[in-house]
Amino acid sequence: MAKKKYLIITYGCQMNKADSERIERIMQVFGYQKTSDEKEADFFIINACSVRQSAIDRVYSKVKDLKNKNKKAKIILTGCILKKDRENFLKDKNVDFIFSINSLKNWQKFIKEKKRYFWQEKDIKDCKYLEIEPEYSNNFSALIPISFGCNNFCTYCAVPYTRGKLILRDWRKIVKEAEKLVNLGFKEIWLLGQNVNDYNFKIKGNKIPDKFKKIIKNKVVDFATLLAIINDIKGDFWIRFTSPHPENFSEKLIKKIAKCQKITPYLNLPLQSGDDEILKRMNRHYKAKDYEKLVQKIRFYFKKYRKGIEKDPSLSTDIIVGFPGESEKQFQNTVKLFKKIKFDMAYIAKYSQRPGTIASKFKDDVLSQEKERRYKILQNLLRKIAKERNKRFLNKKVEVLVEEVKKENNFFWCYGKTRHFKSLKFKSNENLQGKIVNVKVIKADSFGLLGKLL
Ligand code: SAH
Ligand code: SF4
Ligand code: F3S
Repeated sequence: MAKKKYLIITYGCQMNKADSERIERIMQVFGYQKTSDEKEADFFIINACSVRQSAIDRVYSKVKDLKNKNKKAKIILTGCILKKDRENFLKDKNVDFIFSINSLKNWQKFIKEKKRYFWQEKDIKDCKYLEIEPEYSNNFSALIPISFGCNNFCTYCAVPYTRGKLILRDWRKIVKEAEKLVNLGFKEIWLLGQNVNDYNFKIKGNKIPDKFKKIIKNKVVDFATLLAIINDIKGDFWIRFTSPHPENFSEKLIKKIAKCQKITPYLNLPLQSGDDEILKRMNRHYKAKDYEKLVQKIRFYFKKYRKGIEKDPSLSTDIIVGFPGESEKQFQNTVKLFKKIKFDMAYIAKYSQRPGTIASKFKDDVLSQEKERRYKILQNLLRKIAKERNKRFLNKKVEVLVEEVKKENNFFWCYGKTRHFKSLKFKSNENLQGKIVNVKVIKADSFGLLGKLL
Protein backbone atom coordinates (compact mmCIF):
# COMPACT_ATOMS: atom_id res chain seq x y z
CA MET A 1 0.00 0.00 0.00
CA ALA A 2 1.27 3.43 -0.87
CA LYS A 3 2.41 5.47 2.07
CA LYS A 4 0.22 8.32 3.25
CA LYS A 5 1.68 11.72 2.60
CA TYR A 6 2.04 14.76 4.85
CA LEU A 7 2.84 18.41 4.42
CA ILE A 8 3.85 20.69 7.30
CA ILE A 9 3.13 24.43 7.24
CA THR A 10 5.09 26.36 9.85
CA TYR A 11 4.29 29.84 11.12
CA GLY A 12 5.97 31.89 13.83
CA CYS A 13 9.38 31.92 15.41
CA GLN A 14 12.36 29.58 15.62
CA MET A 15 10.68 27.62 18.42
CA ASN A 16 8.00 26.56 16.00
CA LYS A 17 10.62 25.74 13.38
CA ALA A 18 12.41 23.52 15.90
CA ASP A 19 9.09 21.87 16.77
CA SER A 20 8.32 21.27 13.10
CA GLU A 21 11.63 19.43 12.75
CA ARG A 22 10.35 17.03 15.41
CA ILE A 23 6.93 16.71 13.76
CA GLU A 24 8.75 15.87 10.54
CA ARG A 25 10.62 13.02 12.23
CA ILE A 26 7.59 11.63 14.05
CA MET A 27 5.51 11.57 10.85
CA GLN A 28 8.27 9.57 9.19
CA VAL A 29 8.53 7.20 12.14
CA PHE A 30 4.77 6.70 11.86
CA GLY A 31 5.36 5.66 8.25
CA TYR A 32 4.13 8.73 6.43
CA GLN A 33 5.96 10.28 3.53
CA LYS A 34 6.77 13.94 2.98
CA THR A 35 5.30 15.80 0.03
CA SER A 36 5.39 19.38 -1.16
CA ASP A 37 2.36 18.95 -3.40
CA GLU A 38 -0.77 20.24 -1.68
CA LYS A 39 -2.99 18.18 -3.98
CA GLU A 40 -1.52 14.82 -3.05
CA ALA A 41 -1.20 15.31 0.74
CA ASP A 42 -3.26 13.09 3.07
CA PHE A 43 -2.37 15.21 6.11
CA PHE A 44 -1.73 18.91 6.50
CA ILE A 45 -0.09 19.85 9.75
CA ILE A 46 -0.34 23.53 10.52
CA ASN A 47 2.06 24.68 13.21
CA ALA A 48 0.41 27.93 14.29
CA CYS A 49 1.59 31.20 15.81
CA SER A 50 -0.63 33.53 17.87
CA VAL A 51 1.74 36.34 18.69
CA ARG A 52 -0.50 38.83 16.87
CA GLN A 53 -4.05 38.63 15.51
CA SER A 54 -2.65 38.70 11.97
CA ALA A 55 -0.59 35.56 12.71
CA ILE A 56 -3.60 33.49 13.73
CA ASP A 57 -5.77 35.03 10.98
CA ARG A 58 -3.31 33.53 8.55
CA VAL A 59 -4.06 30.10 10.02
CA TYR A 60 -7.83 30.59 9.62
CA SER A 61 -7.41 31.45 5.95
CA LYS A 62 -4.88 28.68 5.36
CA VAL A 63 -7.35 26.10 6.67
CA LYS A 64 -9.96 27.30 4.17
CA ASP A 65 -7.50 27.48 1.34
CA LEU A 66 -6.15 23.96 1.93
CA LYS A 67 -9.64 22.42 2.16
CA ASN A 68 -10.55 24.12 -1.10
CA LYS A 69 -7.54 22.69 -2.82
CA ASN A 70 -7.68 19.22 -1.32
CA LYS A 71 -10.94 18.04 0.26
CA LYS A 72 -9.84 14.54 1.22
CA ALA A 73 -6.82 15.57 3.30
CA LYS A 74 -7.06 15.78 7.09
CA ILE A 75 -5.95 18.97 8.81
CA ILE A 76 -4.05 18.81 12.10
CA LEU A 77 -3.58 22.05 14.02
CA THR A 78 -0.80 22.45 16.57
CA GLY A 79 1.65 25.03 17.91
CA CYS A 80 0.68 28.24 19.65
CA ILE A 81 -3.12 28.58 19.69
CA LEU A 82 -5.03 30.53 22.33
CA LYS A 83 -8.03 28.95 24.05
CA LYS A 84 -10.53 31.16 22.25
CA ASP A 85 -9.14 30.20 18.87
CA ARG A 86 -9.01 26.50 19.82
CA GLU A 87 -12.71 26.74 20.62
CA ASN A 88 -13.37 28.38 17.25
CA PHE A 89 -11.36 25.77 15.39
CA LEU A 90 -13.24 23.01 17.19
CA LYS A 91 -16.45 24.39 15.69
CA ASP A 92 -14.87 24.43 12.23
CA LYS A 93 -15.60 21.21 10.29
CA ASN A 94 -12.57 21.82 8.10
CA VAL A 95 -10.29 21.20 11.07
CA ASP A 96 -9.94 17.46 11.74
CA PHE A 97 -7.57 17.44 14.73
CA ILE A 98 -6.17 19.87 17.31
CA PHE A 99 -3.22 18.54 19.31
CA SER A 100 -0.75 20.24 21.61
CA ILE A 101 2.83 19.98 20.43
CA ASN A 102 4.08 18.22 23.53
CA SER A 103 1.65 15.35 22.95
CA LEU A 104 3.43 14.71 19.64
CA LYS A 105 4.36 11.11 20.45
CA ASN A 106 0.67 10.25 20.87
CA TRP A 107 -0.62 11.82 17.68
CA GLN A 108 -0.81 8.57 15.76
CA LYS A 109 -2.77 6.96 18.56
CA PHE A 110 -5.13 9.94 18.68
CA ILE A 111 -5.66 9.77 14.91
CA LYS A 112 -6.43 6.05 15.05
CA GLU A 113 -8.84 6.54 17.95
CA LYS A 114 -10.41 9.46 16.10
CA LYS A 115 -9.71 11.64 19.10
CA ARG A 116 -10.23 15.08 17.70
CA TYR A 117 -8.83 17.24 20.49
CA PHE A 118 -5.99 16.87 22.94
CA TRP A 119 -4.51 19.81 24.79
CA GLN A 120 -2.92 19.91 28.20
CA GLU A 121 -4.64 23.01 29.45
CA LYS A 122 -2.85 24.07 32.58
CA ASP A 123 0.74 23.56 33.64
CA ILE A 124 1.93 21.57 30.72
CA LYS A 125 4.04 19.17 32.70
CA ASP A 126 6.68 17.97 30.35
CA CYS A 127 8.73 18.84 27.36
CA LYS A 128 9.82 15.26 26.65
CA TYR A 129 8.83 15.64 23.03
CA LEU A 130 11.99 17.74 22.67
CA GLU A 131 13.93 14.48 22.95
CA ILE A 132 12.45 13.26 19.68
CA GLU A 133 15.39 13.36 17.32
CA PRO A 134 14.65 16.25 14.95
CA GLU A 135 14.83 16.04 11.20
CA TYR A 136 17.25 18.98 10.92
CA SER A 137 16.37 21.16 7.96
CA ASN A 138 20.00 21.41 6.84
CA ASN A 139 23.41 20.06 7.83
CA PHE A 140 25.15 23.27 8.94
CA SER A 141 22.86 25.29 11.23
CA ALA A 142 20.74 23.73 13.97
CA LEU A 143 18.14 24.90 16.45
CA ILE A 144 18.40 23.48 19.98
CA PRO A 145 15.52 24.31 22.33
CA ILE A 146 16.71 24.63 25.92
CA SER A 147 13.33 25.31 27.49
CA PHE A 148 9.61 25.34 26.81
CA GLY A 149 7.08 28.01 27.77
CA CYS A 150 7.51 31.17 29.78
CA ASN A 151 6.79 32.42 33.30
CA ASN A 152 7.07 36.12 32.62
CA PHE A 153 3.50 36.98 31.75
CA CYS A 154 4.24 40.22 29.98
CA THR A 155 0.72 41.61 29.85
CA TYR A 156 0.46 41.76 26.03
CA CYS A 157 1.89 38.32 25.33
CA ALA A 158 0.15 35.14 24.23
CA VAL A 159 3.08 32.78 24.79
CA PRO A 160 2.54 31.88 28.49
CA TYR A 161 -1.03 30.90 27.52
CA THR A 162 -0.19 28.95 24.39
CA ARG A 163 2.93 27.19 25.67
CA GLY A 164 2.32 27.24 29.37
CA LYS A 165 4.76 27.68 32.20
CA LEU A 166 8.51 27.45 31.82
CA ILE A 167 9.95 23.93 31.75
CA LEU A 168 13.67 23.40 31.42
CA ARG A 169 15.18 20.77 29.21
CA ASP A 170 17.79 18.66 31.00
CA TRP A 171 21.21 20.28 30.51
CA ARG A 172 22.83 16.93 29.66
CA LYS A 173 20.44 16.38 26.77
CA ILE A 174 21.19 19.85 25.45
CA VAL A 175 24.94 19.33 25.70
CA LYS A 176 24.70 15.87 24.13
CA GLU A 177 22.74 17.25 21.20
CA ALA A 178 25.26 20.06 20.74
CA GLU A 179 28.19 17.61 20.87
CA LYS A 180 26.53 15.36 18.33
CA LEU A 181 25.91 18.25 15.95
CA VAL A 182 29.45 19.56 16.21
CA ASN A 183 30.76 16.06 15.49
CA LEU A 184 28.52 15.92 12.45
CA GLY A 185 30.16 19.10 11.21
CA PHE A 186 27.43 21.63 11.97
CA LYS A 187 28.78 25.18 11.89
CA GLU A 188 26.16 27.01 13.88
CA ILE A 189 24.09 26.18 16.91
CA TRP A 190 21.12 28.25 18.10
CA LEU A 191 20.06 27.81 21.71
CA LEU A 192 16.37 28.63 21.91
CA GLY A 193 14.13 29.72 24.74
CA GLN A 194 11.53 32.40 25.35
CA ASN A 195 13.80 33.80 27.98
CA VAL A 196 17.16 32.05 27.86
CA ASN A 197 18.66 33.72 30.92
CA ASP A 198 15.90 32.15 33.00
CA TYR A 199 17.60 28.79 32.41
CA ASN A 200 18.56 27.43 35.82
CA PHE A 201 18.70 23.64 36.00
CA LYS A 202 19.02 22.14 39.45
CA ILE A 203 20.82 18.83 39.41
CA LYS A 204 19.30 16.18 41.64
CA GLY A 205 21.52 13.63 43.35
CA ASN A 206 25.18 13.29 42.49
CA LYS A 207 25.01 12.98 38.78
CA ILE A 208 27.70 15.36 37.59
CA PRO A 209 30.16 13.64 35.26
CA ASP A 210 33.81 14.27 36.22
CA LYS A 211 34.62 16.41 33.22
CA PHE A 212 31.98 18.96 34.24
CA LYS A 213 32.77 19.03 37.95
CA LYS A 214 35.01 22.08 37.65
CA ILE A 215 32.56 24.13 35.66
CA ILE A 216 29.31 23.32 37.52
CA LYS A 217 29.03 25.02 40.87
CA ASN A 218 26.47 24.26 43.60
CA LYS A 219 24.74 21.62 41.48
CA VAL A 220 23.13 24.27 39.31
CA VAL A 221 23.51 24.76 35.59
CA ASP A 222 22.44 28.31 34.85
CA PHE A 223 22.55 29.86 31.38
CA ALA A 224 26.09 31.19 31.82
CA THR A 225 27.29 27.69 32.79
CA LEU A 226 25.43 26.08 29.91
CA LEU A 227 27.13 28.50 27.52
CA ALA A 228 30.53 27.77 29.02
CA ILE A 229 30.01 24.01 28.65
CA ILE A 230 28.94 24.32 25.02
CA ASN A 231 31.75 26.76 24.27
CA ASP A 232 34.17 24.08 25.55
CA ILE A 233 33.06 21.53 22.96
CA LYS A 234 36.00 21.03 20.64
CA GLY A 235 35.38 22.12 17.08
CA ASP A 236 34.98 25.05 14.78
CA PHE A 237 31.43 26.33 15.23
CA TRP A 238 29.39 29.37 16.22
CA ILE A 239 27.04 29.66 19.18
CA ARG A 240 23.96 31.87 18.96
CA PHE A 241 21.00 32.17 21.29
CA THR A 242 17.64 33.87 21.40
CA SER A 243 16.19 35.60 23.29
CA PRO A 244 17.59 36.93 26.53
CA HIS A 245 15.50 39.15 28.78
CA PRO A 246 16.83 42.51 30.03
CA GLU A 247 15.76 41.50 33.54
CA ASN A 248 18.02 39.15 35.51
CA PHE A 249 20.85 39.70 33.05
CA SER A 250 23.70 39.33 35.50
CA GLU A 251 27.21 40.72 35.15
CA LYS A 252 28.43 37.13 35.37
CA LEU A 253 26.37 36.25 32.30
CA ILE A 254 27.54 39.29 30.34
CA LYS A 255 31.17 38.46 31.08
CA LYS A 256 30.66 34.83 30.10
CA ILE A 257 29.07 35.82 26.79
CA ALA A 258 31.89 38.23 26.04
CA LYS A 259 34.58 35.72 27.04
CA CYS A 260 33.27 32.65 25.20
CA GLN A 261 34.73 33.30 21.76
CA LYS A 262 32.45 30.85 19.93
CA ILE A 263 29.46 32.97 20.91
CA THR A 264 28.83 35.38 18.07
CA PRO A 265 28.86 39.13 18.78
CA TYR A 266 25.12 39.45 18.33
CA LEU A 267 22.40 39.94 20.88
CA ASN A 268 18.65 40.32 20.46
CA LEU A 269 17.62 42.11 23.61
CA PRO A 270 13.91 42.97 23.54
CA LEU A 271 13.25 46.46 24.88
CA GLN A 272 9.50 46.66 24.01
CA SER A 273 9.23 50.30 25.14
CA GLY A 274 11.51 53.12 26.23
CA ASP A 275 8.95 54.49 28.67
CA ASP A 276 8.96 53.40 32.31
CA GLU A 277 5.21 53.67 32.82
CA ILE A 278 4.49 51.58 29.72
CA LEU A 279 7.11 49.03 30.74
CA LYS A 280 5.44 48.73 34.10
CA ARG A 281 2.07 48.15 32.50
CA MET A 282 3.67 45.58 30.22
CA ASN A 283 4.85 43.79 33.38
CA ARG A 284 8.46 44.23 32.31
CA HIS A 285 10.38 44.81 35.53
CA TYR A 286 13.10 47.17 34.36
CA LYS A 287 13.32 50.85 33.61
CA ALA A 288 14.66 52.51 30.49
CA LYS A 289 17.75 53.53 32.49
CA ASP A 290 18.39 49.90 33.53
CA TYR A 291 18.25 48.82 29.92
CA GLU A 292 20.66 51.55 28.93
CA LYS A 293 23.09 50.53 31.68
CA LEU A 294 22.84 46.91 30.60
CA VAL A 295 23.74 47.84 27.02
CA GLN A 296 26.69 49.87 28.29
CA LYS A 297 27.94 46.87 30.25
CA ILE A 298 27.53 44.53 27.30
CA ARG A 299 29.48 46.93 25.09
CA PHE A 300 32.12 47.39 27.80
CA TYR A 301 32.83 43.67 28.20
CA PHE A 302 32.89 42.98 24.49
CA LYS A 303 35.44 45.75 24.12
CA LYS A 304 37.44 44.18 26.91
CA TYR A 305 37.37 40.53 25.91
CA ARG A 306 37.05 40.52 22.10
CA LYS A 307 39.37 41.43 19.26
CA GLY A 308 38.97 43.55 16.12
CA ILE A 309 35.44 44.08 14.84
CA GLU A 310 34.08 41.75 17.53
CA LYS A 311 34.73 44.50 20.08
CA ASP A 312 31.57 46.21 18.87
CA PRO A 313 28.73 43.65 18.99
CA SER A 314 25.53 44.09 17.04
CA LEU A 315 22.47 44.70 19.10
CA SER A 316 18.93 44.13 17.96
CA THR A 317 15.66 44.54 19.79
CA ASP A 318 11.90 44.02 19.75
CA ILE A 319 9.58 46.99 20.14
CA ILE A 320 5.82 47.29 20.41
CA VAL A 321 4.21 50.58 19.38
CA GLY A 322 0.69 51.61 20.36
CA PHE A 323 0.42 49.64 23.60
CA PRO A 324 -2.88 50.60 25.34
CA GLY A 325 -2.67 54.14 26.64
CA GLU A 326 0.68 54.92 25.00
CA SER A 327 0.76 58.71 24.67
CA GLU A 328 2.80 60.65 22.14
CA LYS A 329 5.19 61.61 24.91
CA GLN A 330 5.65 58.00 25.98
CA PHE A 331 6.24 56.96 22.39
CA GLN A 332 8.85 59.73 22.10
CA ASN A 333 10.67 58.17 25.07
CA THR A 334 11.06 55.03 22.98
CA VAL A 335 12.29 57.13 20.04
CA LYS A 336 14.83 58.86 22.29
CA LEU A 337 16.20 55.64 23.68
CA PHE A 338 16.26 54.09 20.23
CA LYS A 339 18.43 56.97 18.99
CA LYS A 340 20.67 56.81 22.01
CA ILE A 341 21.35 53.09 21.86
CA LYS A 342 21.70 52.91 18.09
CA PHE A 343 20.31 49.45 17.44
CA ASP A 344 21.69 47.43 14.55
CA MET A 345 18.31 45.90 13.98
CA ALA A 346 14.82 46.07 15.46
CA TYR A 347 11.68 43.99 15.09
CA ILE A 348 8.99 46.62 15.45
CA ALA A 349 5.40 45.51 15.98
CA LYS A 350 2.09 47.31 16.24
CA TYR A 351 0.30 46.26 19.43
CA SER A 352 -2.28 43.59 18.81
CA GLN A 353 -4.71 42.61 21.52
CA ARG A 354 -4.55 38.91 22.42
CA PRO A 355 -7.67 37.36 23.98
CA GLY A 356 -7.10 36.08 27.50
CA THR A 357 -3.99 38.13 28.23
CA ILE A 358 -3.91 40.72 31.02
CA ALA A 359 -3.61 43.61 28.55
CA SER A 360 -6.77 42.45 26.77
CA LYS A 361 -8.58 44.08 29.68
CA PHE A 362 -6.97 47.45 28.84
CA LYS A 363 -8.64 49.58 26.22
CA ASP A 364 -6.84 49.18 22.89
CA ASP A 365 -7.13 52.93 22.42
CA VAL A 366 -4.30 53.88 20.07
CA LEU A 367 -5.94 54.13 16.65
CA SER A 368 -4.57 51.92 13.94
CA GLN A 369 -3.47 54.90 11.79
CA GLU A 370 -1.58 56.19 14.80
CA LYS A 371 0.07 52.80 15.37
CA GLU A 372 1.05 52.83 11.72
CA ARG A 373 2.52 56.34 12.04
CA ARG A 374 4.59 55.36 15.10
CA TYR A 375 5.68 52.16 13.39
CA LYS A 376 6.90 54.11 10.36
CA ILE A 377 8.78 56.63 12.47
CA LEU A 378 10.76 53.86 14.15
CA GLN A 379 11.22 51.92 10.93
CA ASN A 380 12.69 55.01 9.22
CA LEU A 381 14.91 55.68 12.17
CA LEU A 382 16.10 52.10 12.12
CA ARG A 383 16.93 52.32 8.42
CA LYS A 384 19.10 55.36 9.06
CA ILE A 385 20.84 54.06 12.17
CA ALA A 386 21.39 50.57 10.75
CA LYS A 387 23.02 52.02 7.64
CA GLU A 388 25.27 54.18 9.75
CA ARG A 389 26.16 51.23 12.00
CA ASN A 390 26.84 48.92 9.08
CA LYS A 391 29.52 51.25 7.76
CA ARG A 392 31.82 49.91 10.48
CA PHE A 393 32.24 46.77 8.40
CA LEU A 394 33.32 48.53 5.18
CA ASN A 395 36.63 47.19 3.85
CA LYS A 396 36.83 44.81 6.79
CA LYS A 397 37.32 41.07 6.61
CA VAL A 398 34.35 39.17 8.01
CA GLU A 399 33.39 35.53 8.33
CA VAL A 400 30.15 34.45 6.68
CA LEU A 401 28.17 31.25 7.04
CA VAL A 402 26.62 30.65 3.63
CA GLU A 403 22.98 29.63 3.98
CA GLU A 404 21.67 29.76 0.44
CA VAL A 405 23.03 29.90 -3.08
CA LYS A 406 21.51 30.84 -6.39
CA LYS A 407 23.18 29.79 -9.59
CA GLU A 408 23.52 32.48 -12.20
CA ASN A 409 25.17 31.70 -15.58
CA ASN A 410 28.70 30.69 -14.65
CA PHE A 411 28.75 31.73 -10.98
CA PHE A 412 26.81 31.47 -7.72
CA TRP A 413 25.28 34.21 -5.60
CA CYS A 414 25.97 33.15 -2.03
CA TYR A 415 23.71 34.48 0.76
CA GLY A 416 24.62 34.18 4.40
CA LYS A 417 25.03 35.76 7.78
CA THR A 418 28.14 37.23 9.37
CA ARG A 419 29.00 36.59 13.01
CA HIS A 420 27.31 39.93 13.75
CA PHE A 421 24.16 38.41 12.19
CA LYS A 422 24.29 40.74 9.20
CA SER A 423 22.90 39.49 5.91
CA LEU A 424 25.65 39.44 3.34
CA LYS A 425 25.82 38.35 -0.28
CA PHE A 426 28.77 37.72 -2.56
CA LYS A 427 29.65 36.00 -5.81
CA SER A 428 31.56 32.77 -6.01
CA ASN A 429 32.60 30.25 -8.66
CA GLU A 430 31.80 27.43 -6.27
CA ASN A 431 28.67 26.43 -4.40
CA LEU A 432 29.69 27.33 -0.85
CA GLN A 433 26.45 26.46 0.97
CA GLY A 434 27.03 25.40 4.56
CA LYS A 435 30.60 26.73 4.65
CA ILE A 436 32.13 29.51 6.69
CA VAL A 437 34.28 31.69 4.43
CA ASN A 438 36.18 34.97 4.65
CA VAL A 439 34.78 37.90 2.75
CA LYS A 440 35.72 41.56 2.42
CA VAL A 441 32.79 43.94 2.82
CA ILE A 442 32.61 46.32 -0.16
CA LYS A 443 29.16 47.87 0.31
CA ALA A 444 26.97 48.47 3.36
CA ASP A 445 23.24 49.16 3.26
CA SER A 446 20.70 49.33 6.08
CA PHE A 447 19.75 45.69 6.00
CA GLY A 448 22.51 44.02 4.06
CA LEU A 449 26.16 43.93 3.12
CA LEU A 450 27.82 43.14 -0.18
CA GLY A 451 31.08 41.27 -0.03
CA LYS A 452 33.97 39.99 -2.10
CA LEU A 453 35.24 36.48 -1.48
CA LEU A 454 38.80 36.43 -0.15
N1 SAH B 1 10.17 35.64 24.42
C1 SAH B 1 10.54 36.67 23.58
C2 SAH B 1 9.49 37.23 22.68
C3 SAH B 1 8.50 36.34 22.09
S1 SAH B 1 7.28 37.13 21.12
C4 SAH B 1 11.02 37.78 24.44
O1 SAH B 1 10.47 38.05 25.47
O2 SAH B 1 11.95 38.39 24.02
C5 SAH B 1 8.27 38.09 20.01
C6 SAH B 1 7.94 39.53 20.01
O3 SAH B 1 6.64 39.76 19.53
C7 SAH B 1 7.96 40.22 21.33
O4 SAH B 1 9.23 40.57 21.76
C8 SAH B 1 7.09 41.44 21.11
O5 SAH B 1 7.85 42.54 20.66
C9 SAH B 1 6.15 40.98 20.01
N2 SAH B 1 4.81 40.79 20.56
C10 SAH B 1 4.42 39.90 21.48
N3 SAH B 1 3.11 40.03 21.76
C11 SAH B 1 2.66 41.05 21.00
C12 SAH B 1 1.38 41.68 20.84
N4 SAH B 1 0.33 41.30 21.55
N5 SAH B 1 1.28 42.69 19.95
C13 SAH B 1 2.35 43.09 19.25
N6 SAH B 1 3.57 42.55 19.35
C14 SAH B 1 3.72 41.53 20.22
FE1 SF4 C 1 6.09 36.76 26.07
FE2 SF4 C 1 7.31 38.20 27.89
FE3 SF4 C 1 7.56 35.56 27.94
FE4 SF4 C 1 8.71 36.96 26.01
S1 SF4 C 1 9.22 37.08 28.19
S2 SF4 C 1 7.51 35.08 25.75
S3 SF4 C 1 7.28 38.62 25.67
S4 SF4 C 1 5.68 36.70 28.29
FE1 F3S D 1 6.72 31.72 18.60
FE2 F3S D 1 4.43 32.68 17.78
FE3 F3S D 1 4.47 30.82 19.60
S1 F3S D 1 6.25 33.84 18.09
S2 F3S D 1 6.37 31.03 20.68
S3 F3S D 1 5.21 30.64 17.49
S4 F3S D 1 3.11 32.57 19.55
